[in-house]
Amino acid sequence: MNQKIIKREYKNKIKTLNYYNLKYYNENISEITDAEYDNLKKDILDLENEYKFLKSKNSPTVTVGFKPSKNFKKAFHKVPMLSLANAFTENDLINFEKKILNYLSKDKDNNIYYSAEPKIDGISASLTYKNGKLIRGLSRGDGKQGEDITSNLATIKDIPKIILSRDFPSEIDIRGEVFIQNSDFESLKEKFANPRNAASGSLRQKNPNDTKKIPLKFIAYTFGFEKGLKINNQYDYLNKLSEWGFKINPLNKLITGVENLIQNYNEVEKKRTDLDFDIDGIVYKVNDFTLQKRLGFVANAPRWAVAHKFSSNKAVSKILDIDIQIGRTGALTPVAKIKPINIGGVLVSNASLHNEDEINRKDIRIGDTVTVERAGDVIPHILSVDKKKRPINSSKFIFPTKCPSCGSLTIKEFNLTTKKKDAVRRCSSEGYDCDKISIEKLKHFVSKEAFNIDGLGKKIIENFWKLKLIKFPQDIFKIDFKKIEILDGWGKLSAENLRHSIENKKKISLERFIYSLGIRHIGLENAKLLSKYFGTFTKFKNLSLNHNHKELLNIDGIGEIQVNSIKNFFSNKINLKVLTELEKVLSIHLGSKKTSGLLKNKTFLVTGKLNGISRAEVKSLIEENSGTTVSGVTKKLDFLIIGEKPTKRKVMNAKELKIRIINQDQFLKMINKIS
Ligand code: IVH
Repeated sequence: MNQKIIKREYKNKIKTLNYYNLKYYNENISEITDAEYDNLKKDILDLENEYKFLKSKNSPTVTVGFKPSKNFKKAFHKVPMLSLANAFTENDLINFEKKILNYLSKDKDNNIYYSAEPKIDGISASLTYKNGKLIRGLSRGDGKQGEDITSNLATIKDIPKIILSRDFPSEIDIRGEVFIQNSDFESLKEKFANPRNAASGSLRQKNPNDTKKIPLKFIAYTFGFEKGLKINNQYDYLNKLSEWGFKINPLNKLITGVENLIQNYNEVEKKRTDLDFDIDGIVYKVNDFTLQKRLGFVANAPRWAVAHKFSSNKAVSKILDIDIQIGRTGALTPVAKIKPINIGGVLVSNASLHNEDEINRKDIRIGDTVTVERAGDVIPHILSVDKKKRPINSSKFIFPTKCPSCGSLTIKEFNLTTKKKDAVRRCSSEGYDCDKISIEKLKHFVSKEAFNIDGLGKKIIENFWKLKLIKFPQDIFKIDFKKIEILDGWGKLSAENLRHSIENKKKISLERFIYSLGIRHIGLENAKLLSKYFGTFTKFKNLSLNHNHKELLNIDGIGEIQVNSIKNFFSNKINLKVLTELEKVLSIHLGSKKTSGLLKNKTFLVTGKLNGISRAEVKSLIEENSGTTVSGVTKKLDFLIIGEKPTKRKVMNAKELKIRIINQDQFLKMINKIS
């Protein structure tokens, strides 16, 4: 390659990097994944290392981040805010330590201690305290100059405004990360693509009152300028931060030896999906401040620290098609069929698109190149669209105005609580008229918390439905088993077993029965309330004659939304027919507890993950056997069932109260499920 081509390639890469920087720092938009960004940066650094003639004042070795935006007043950091070099492999870590030892001219036997701190993926901020008072808060900006976002930062509860401790330095810039917990992000999902964008966007609100509404958190981990700090190592500094009233990361550790760093890395990575905040790696800092000073900096990153990044849980793929799934309540859920791609060891071919609004907001189209993220057990979702790679002939995705299953009009309902139109579009047909809704209703009818019919799972329901063996719930109790016996994969015995388990479920409590009908907004709890209120099936069914549905509002817990939904249900003739038919075959009793079961008068609570059985199923089993479940460890609890990773506090409390602690097998033995 000649010099000209190399220079051009180098300049182009820098230009691209700076474009992404600009988007990221000024508009809070990440158009590429962190991994792609890191790769691009690495390419530039590699080129510089290989070809000494390459130089640019815009190179990432010279600049950090990007110039702050014009919306806020700017101010210089007294000590620049630096970035960190990345490490990806064990080898990178070995080299990191080797360089440190070389630089300090120490031999291998010298144990270097590191402060290992999970790297929270948020927005860094620098808080200046003078005489114990918070006087200013800056964003990182370009590292040298940040934005003055003091009033926004001051709304964050985790940030102390006054520190009275005697040993608090007379002046110090406390630095750390502003972020949003994943659980708090749930309610912001509509507005932001991920917690990081939400944190960044909230910090940049013009009006601090808007920032205040967002539950931002702050974790402290380093300092900039200081006068009067009497600490000589990072780990003690972190603990001091905590004494002074700052939050610090509970997973911070003091570690020596690369193997131990790796072990900790693996342990934290395993915990990653259970944490309530996003981390993208672990930062290692040489613990001793004297050594840190000696090591100093290269370009814009310290020689004494490195960020050990986790492998990415994001990947780029292409949308092959957009499928519309229809749920039991008629909700139309778009799902992107993507070119299968491996993300963190799992082959992903579907990604959730949430709802129509989400598609419109991100302008997601068939044929688009997209970044897909898979975190923990949640369904993979589309993070962003690479619009530059969009085919020229692509057209906007038009969400169906007719139900793809039955052709009925689709509608967006007005939500009484939010006083806005729903983000979800629904099929307007009346339940059993729409095939897809019908099947989903049947699946719900036989599900664990409803009729709980053994051997009648989702796949079998679909199959029976396709074969026209069932269409309405009552058909389940009239199945012609002669026809089942001869089906592929069935036989006399399995058909007989199914007949038996269906027969067994003809006796049902009113609350389960009401729940099984799948009336919108009537979940388990509401079904229980209704069952208690009516007492008998007849009284419940009389709702169809009685037009005074408003009386239901007297039930504590039932509101207008539920009443409207019940009204709707009873105004549909098919539903009434279903009720009449079911009444003929079932014996519906008031859910008053059986008093004869094996778990009579016993209370239970489950903590931790069970093996091959869901919490819902355990709850059903307990109730079927006349036991009750409670929600906390109190004196009233008889048995605490523990699974994998139980809540320690619950186990401790149970021990203190001398409550019997049993495992899954012991529980199943109690109800004769295993011997
Ligand atoms: S120390 C020279 N410690 O990572 C020290 N940074 O790429 C530089 N970060 O801008 C910062 N957790 O936003 C440090 N425990 C931690 C950190 C951390 C997250 C972020 C921070 C910084 C970026 C550096």
